[in-house]
Amino acid sequence: MSERTLVLVKPDGVERGLVGEVISRIERKGLKLVALEMRQVDRQLAEQHYAEHDGKPFFGSLLEFIMSGPVVAAVVEGPKAVAAFRQLAGGTDPVEKAEAGSLRGDYGLEVQYNLVHGSDSAESAERELKLWFPDLAA
Ligand code: PPS
Repeated sequence: MSERTLVLVKPDGVERGLVGEVISRIERKGLKLVALEMRQVDRQLAEQHYAEHDGKPFFGSLLEFIMSGPVVAAVVEGPKAVAAFRQLAGGTDPVEKAEAGSLRGDYGLEVQYNLVHGSDSAESAERELKLWFPDLAA
């Protein structure tokens, strides 16, 4: 059974030239890229994407950060794609939670600048994919 997940290389990852590294790890894991696009996130998309975090203390800085530079958005497909990419990404905090060998564990230091986003469940993936890639057939 194949599933899809949304992956973002956030502005810090793009700025640091880590897009190729992220894509390479996705492909080496055996996952497949279905769509790939660089774009500037506007406030409407940022608010919709992070709607579940509205009200949290870091909500404002989360929005500002995702709008601060181009991101690379990808649709990634494969068996257990949601969990598989989260394994590649590592935990949210690059030092306290992510293990060495994961993207955040290898390349991150601070929770805000944690390089990548991956949908956290199949339900989130469905919602986020519709938001970012409305023209893509399921
Ligand atoms: S929570 O509180 O458990 O819902 O947080 P989490 O799901 O781990 O993270 C949600 C997204 O918010 C980002 N985040 C932060 N940004 C800035 N400052 C702080 N303190 C912070 N804590 C969490 C985190 O990177 C997640 O972003 P995405 O893009 O979803 O990975």
